[in-house]
Amino acid sequence: MSERVVLVDAVRSPFGKAGSLYSGTRADDIMVRTLRGLLERNPKVLPNQIDDVAIAAATQTGDQGMNIGRSVSLLAGIPDSVPGYSIDRWCAGALTAVTTVSGAIAMGQYDIAIAGGVEHMGNHPMGDGMDPNPRYLAEKLVDTDALQMGATAERLHDKFPHLTKERADRYAVASQNKTAAAYAAGKIQRDLIPVAVRSEELGWGIATVDEPPRPGTTLEALAALKTPFRAAGRVTAGNAAGLNDGATAAILASESKALELGLTIKANLVSFAFAGVAPEIMGYGPVPSTIKALAKAGLKIEDIGLFEVNEAFAIQVLSFLDHFGISDDDPRVNPVGGAIAVGHPLASSGIRLMLNLARSFEEHPEVRYGLTTMCIGLGMGGTVIWENPHFTGKGASK
Ligand SMILES: CC(C)(COP(=O)(O)OP(=O)(O)OC[C@H]1O[C@@H](n2cnc3c(N)ncnc32)[C@H](O)[C@@H]1OP(=O)(O)O)[C@@H](O)C(=O)NCCC(=O)NCCS
Repeated sequence: MSERVVLVDAVRSPFGKAGSLYSGTRADDIMVRTLRGLLERNPKVLPNQIDDVAIAAATQTGDQGMNIGRSVSLLAGIPDSVPGYSIDRWCAGALTAVTTVSGAIAMGQYDIAIAGGVEHMGNHPMGDGMDPNPRYLAEKLVDTDALQMGATAERLHDKFPHLTKERADRYAVASQNKTAAAYAAGKIQRDLIPVAVRSEELGWGIATVDEPPRPGTTLEALAALKTPFRAAGRVTAGNAAGLNDGATAAILASESKALELGLTIKANLVSFAFAGVAPEIMGYGPVPSTIKALAKAGLKIEDIGLFEVNEAFAIQVLSFLDHFGISDDDPRVNPVGGAIAVGHPLASSGIRLMLNLARSFEEHPEVRYGLTTMCIGLGMGGTVIWENPHFTGKGASK
């Protein structure tokens, strides 16, 4: 009962600023269109062969409710016989959807499954409708900062004073520049599924590109921004991911089924791990989850040739890089930029990382292993390690 798991393909919608590009579009419609786009470009995957559809959202009410996994599967025209379910691990929703269906594939219970994630932060502002148990604060289980993600990022700056605001801003400028360069080279657009959008003023339109990037961002402009989470703090709108709307979707399969059907293989799953840290410094979560995932894979950090780290906040990426002795501008890290530029529609982002990594694998046959990692609210991290199917170096299987 042990199958190798492969990433067959992944796509995403263009990301929007919360309540802007998608202000007249339902979250489930963004997810449905993304899912249909994924299936359209993978015609060898027959919908009735899909064993399950796992879709994540951090808020599961309204247009992200109704068991979003089952609901979008039906709306996407996947046959009634294919089941679906919903996943929530806040920002790591899609990443967890991938690891959960992968577990079922590895156990030989599924041959092919869909994982995805959606967040319409315009329709579902962060924290909306949440009712944190008063015991958290009354019994000092956590500090109030733990419940405000920007405040946890300020706490990371406190913990690592050598990771200065200037370094965070410099990292953010680089993210914007890398995204702009990737757009200019056509590296992003090819995996975006166009989504019909509607606005009160403009009527119907089609979203084809990300709305959040701010090419031309300068260090000087970032230095002048307000620090919304703390007076004279270090976290700003410029060195944090924004509030965004968007969806992602991926096909996972057993290697044997992928070979049988002649499906593309974009990455081989090697290991994954989740780990917890103090909720007040949630951004540090990728450190222990990566240590765990590396140990499970029998690998060292030096074995990893490409990194996709979700940029919830620049400081949080810097603390990860600093721990592993990787420089702020290491070219192996987020080569096409990250969430600071393109946005972070919470539960969708994990698959964006995998999509980017899969594309980088194609460009780098000399790299054998890559990792995708992200921090998670209330103090967690998740890491998935992947092997490059295009690897041609020593030890290559083909
Ligand atoms: C930081 C945050 C509060 C900012 O929200 P906001 O104020 O609505 O953000 P805006 O896009 O309006 O930007 C604020 C200002 O910064 C400016 N700005 C933002 N990015 C900039 C950039 N790259 N260059 C120059 N200026 C920039 C904007 O133009 C705006 O200026 P204005 O006030 O003069 O209009 C919000 O993005 C946030 O909460 N991010 C974190 C999300 C999060 O926690 N995710 C989960 C992670 S675990």
